[in-house]
Amino acid sequence: MTGNRTFTMIKPDAVENGHIGAILEKITAAGFKIVAMKYTQLSKRGAREFYAIHKERPFFGELVDFMTRGPIVAAILEKDNAVDDFRALIGATNPAEAAEGTIRKLYATSIGENAVHGSDSDENAAIEGAFHFSGREVF
Ligand code: CMP
Repeated sequence: MTGNRTFTMIKPDAVENGHIGAILEKITAAGFKIVAMKYTQLSKRGAREFYAIHKERPFFGELVDFMTRGPIVAAILEKDNAVDDFRALIGATNPAEAAEGTIRKLYATSIGENAVHGSDSDENAAIEGAFHFSGREVF
């Protein structure tokens, strides 16, 4: 059975470029309910922990620098089949490969600075949501 919640971040590039409103509009228009949301900024330590799965990758340092360079919007979203439907809405990791109309096609500039994050499984959605939120609003 698939879960009905996922976790997202609007990343520093999209915040810097003034796309928070447009991205939230796409998300809610696609039928996602915002269960929890905050405007925040990752510390280096927090970003290293959040992306620990990528720590051996050559782009890890670049990823941590990017994700900590400015504010982000973190949110928990609710919809049937949330993880898969949200990944379809945001499009491929590399915006050059993202389908027309997807959030990354519209707002991402590169594979590294790709505007939004979407959890890749129900398990990771719960872990990532709990990283940013605690208490009644979480999974
Ligand atoms: P996301 O899938 O949200 O989380 C992992 C991130 O690592 C990914 O988005 C990209 O921002 C980044 N990433 C993945 N592959 C590369 C790459 N080849 N070069 C730089 N950054 C990458």
